[in-house]
Amino acid sequence: MLIVRRRGWEIPESRVTPEALMLNRRALLAGAGALSIGGAVTARAEDLAPAKATGPNPKYTAGRELTDEKFSTTYNNFYEFNDSKNMWKEAQAFKQRPWALKIDGMVKQPRTYDLDDLLKQVQLEERIYRHRCVETWAMTVPWSGFALSQLLALVEPLASAKYVMFETAQDKTMRGLNAPFYPWPYTEGLAMDEAANDMAFMVTGMYGKPVPPQNGGPLRIALPWKYGFKSAKSIVKITFTDKKPTTFWEGIGPGEYGFWANVNPTVPHPRWSQARERLLGSNEMVPTQIYNGYGDFVAGLYSDRKSEKLFM
Ligand code: MTE
Repeated sequence: MLIVRRRGWEIPESRVTPEALMLNRRALLAGAGALSIGGAVTARAEDLAPAKATGPNPKYTAGRELTDEKFSTTYNNFYEFNDSKNMWKEAQAFKQRPWALKIDGMVKQPRTYDLDDLLKQVQLEERIYRHRCVETWAMTVPWSGFALSQLLALVEPLASAKYVMFETAQDKTMRGLNAPFYPWPYTEGLAMDEAANDMAFMVTGMYGKPVPPQNGGPLRIALPWKYGFKSAKSIVKITFTDKKPTTFWEGIGPGEYGFWANVNPTVPHPRWSQARERLLGSNEMVPTQIYNGYGDFVAGLYSDRKSEKLFM
């Protein structure tokens, strides 16, 4: 039986906007100060270098202004902490190092990486991506990190692996884990060809600094053609499998959240329209684009999957 319970990121747009406005400027500035202190603790040369050395990858242009960092780091979804958009304060206690990433399942080289060792084996770069939450808010962020395809090359998935599943951290600082309703841990997944697509980007930095805990530091994924819930934060395990995984929100509400979850303005969520999106910061409403505007890079992944529910 589907238990219908209102979650923060299901709040209709009309109710979300006033909540954002409640964050007064003073609170935002205080937040930015606290964040830079957190950043200094975890700052590492490897995370910062790509942004400064080469600039953003020119292949992916956002066509929009960057979202001011004070908005993208203080208006978040991270249910392990709590279901408020203000969870960033609580997340500051979440330690980002040492960080282990386990690789298991159908893979030639199962292993556990120390994150800093892994970062020495990949090419870091910066990419500016748009992010579209299923709740209809959107942001544009300069991420730094590395293509997931680089990790695939290191660990060598077996030909039998059809899907990759991401499992995220469970930590004593996360009081949301005590909420009995949710099927923790938070898990997400991709088909192997999606994971191998160059757009699938493992993120370790944002705005030229380490990703703060509230945005999924020290390791998250960015999948900008999909609704934001696919972009799992604070990843601790990657499993290769031949079975399509049931993912976190799909498990809770299969009629509302699917496995593919590609952005499409013409396919409404059962309870609201997806035609437009609200830009964090300005609160301007703009039209949403299919695949969040990244169709040139990803639409081909779905040409043989037309019978699937690709857009929920
Ligand atoms: N990852 C974990 N582990 N827990 C979460 O609650 N929320 C998702 C996604 N990844 C979530 C998560 C949702 S709904 C969105 S929109 C994005 O993270 C939000 O990312 P941001 O807070 O960095 O904007």
